Amino acid sequence: MSFKSLFRKKPLAAAQDNTDDSHHSGLNRVLTVKDLTFFGIAAIIGGGTFSAIGNACFSGGPGVVLLYVICAIACGFTAMCYAEFASRVPVSGSAYTYAYVSFGELFAWIIGWALLMEYSIGNIYIAFSWSGYFTNLLSSFGLHIPEYLTINYHAAHLAFTENKVGEGLTAWNTAPVIGGLRIIFDLPAVVINVIITALVYIGTKESKNFSNLMVYIKLAIIVLVIIVGAWYIDIDNWTPFMPNGFGGVMAGVSAVFFAYIGFDAVSTLAEESKNPQRDLPRGMIYSLVACTIIYIILALVITGMVSYTQLGVSDPLAEIFALKGVKWMLFIVSIAAVVAMTSVMLVFQMGQPRIWMTMSRDGLMPKKFAEVHPKHKTPGFATLITGLVVGVPIFFTDENFVLDFTSIGTLFAFVLVCGGVLMLSPQSKEELEARAGKFKIPYINSKYIYPIFMIAVLIGLQLLLPDFYADTFNLAEAADTKIPMLVFLLFTVVMMPIAFTKNLSLIPLLGLLSCCYLLTGMSATNWTWFGIWLLIGLVIYFLYGYRKSNLSKS
Ligand code: ALA
Repeated sequence: MSFKSLFRKKPLAAAQDNTDDSHHSGLNRVLTVKDLTFFGIAAIIGGGTFSAIGNACFSGGPGVVLLYVICAIACGFTAMCYAEFASRVPVSGSAYTYAYVSFGELFAWIIGWALLMEYSIGNIYIAFSWSGYFTNLLSSFGLHIPEYLTINYHAAHLAFTENKVGEGLTAWNTAPVIGGLRIIFDLPAVVINVIITALVYIGTKESKNFSNLMVYIKLAIIVLVIIVGAWYIDIDNWTPFMPNGFGGVMAGVSAVFFAYIGFDAVSTLAEESKNPQRDLPRGMIYSLVACTIIYIILALVITGMVSYTQLGVSDPLAEIFALKGVKWMLFIVSIAAVVAMTSVMLVFQMGQPRIWMTMSRDGLMPKKFAEVHPKHKTPGFATLITGLVVGVPIFFTDENFVLDFTSIGTLFAFVLVCGGVLMLSPQSKEELEARAGKFKIPYINSKYIYPIFMIAVLIGLQLLLPDFYADTFNLAEAADTKIPMLVFLLFTVVMMPIAFTKNLSLIPLLGLLSCCYLLTGMSATNWTWFGIWLLIGLVIYFLYGYRKSNLSKS
């Protein structure tokens, strides 16, 4: 094994070959730009909007709106990078394929491994949130599932050790015991995962119709939440704007970023899209713009309706109406949450097998993952394994852990996508002409703009926040929270001469930096778990992928 071989690249032409009719993968090409935009929205508005937003508002106050704007900017730049890649490399596999053609195999594997966190681990969080709202809905019909079947074991055990009165403790005390083990698990979360897996297994066309319907329902209900909620806004709730300072706002980064994840899932549908080079970029960007507008308005409405201190719950959109005594909205919000989260799970559960299918075709995963079901035309085996990867941890994990884990992994993948666009070689005149009418990321030379902008920001920080540098460089206290920021500052400086000498394209550069900035908000524990996860991935790559890769054979 030579060091150089770790960075062997898949030729762009080879990646594109898969889309020729002669190499057609067997998947149905049925999706239009409208379907793709709907897929985007279906994937974006879910657990982040209905659950995670509560804790983000609780720690950040109304100022959390700023975090929605910052995340939208980072995702907007990243979406353009995804779009550039999707237009150059219109095959399934998303960021994984993009990394393969620009950074080489090792990075491609790492991205594929990180995307597992986005799609599969992300779905675990959503399954838990889904279960919470679904249980609420059942109780409004007078139906009750025992507590030990609506909570994860970890949460119940924690409630027991901390002697915290509530659902967790009830679950612990009432659970049946078999062979010394308490039977506690989240049954609705398990069931929804089984249903979604079955639906995805059956086929894209069926799933598409189902998904479009759910998007209509959830958009209509969110608009209703905004309109009804707006009547209850008391502008006094918007002050203080940042009760816990900017640090409090940034503490919500995992939750807010999670709410945006999903636009990139559109890129996994390249091989089912009628005109991927034109429609994938549009689908991603349209869905992101729509959701950004919705989020900013929604965050303003909910922080305006009640004090941010009342929002630290797992069902904040139901809570605001409960606090205002608007009972009929409680019911509607619970239905919307269940619908919204079902559609997110559906899109993610479709994305994961398609990434594995591409990795398997490249030899990095066993061939079985690339098998297309003869009747349903879906990657059947990979779909079933995805169901297991989501389903099994539901018995062992808890929601906060999976939320953080998903956000850090996805941000990491985004960083590599933006970096990948920076490293793509410029296209020749002929190649550019061949892409006429397809999406191209606008080239703005960062040579002067970036260094001037960055120097202004760095000086501006000192002028506006006189203690910022003194605090950040003082590693005597809370060093673990400051090191990511120090590394980020160093990175912004290092990029100045590189942008100047290499005439880097401004949009991917800003995408790279804004995603790196969001990573500075992750806690040391998240970094540790992420590091362990990466290490496991690398071991698998060296034991299996490296040797079995198609590029090893050529
Ligand atoms: N953005 C998706 C959600 O919030 C992951 O559920």
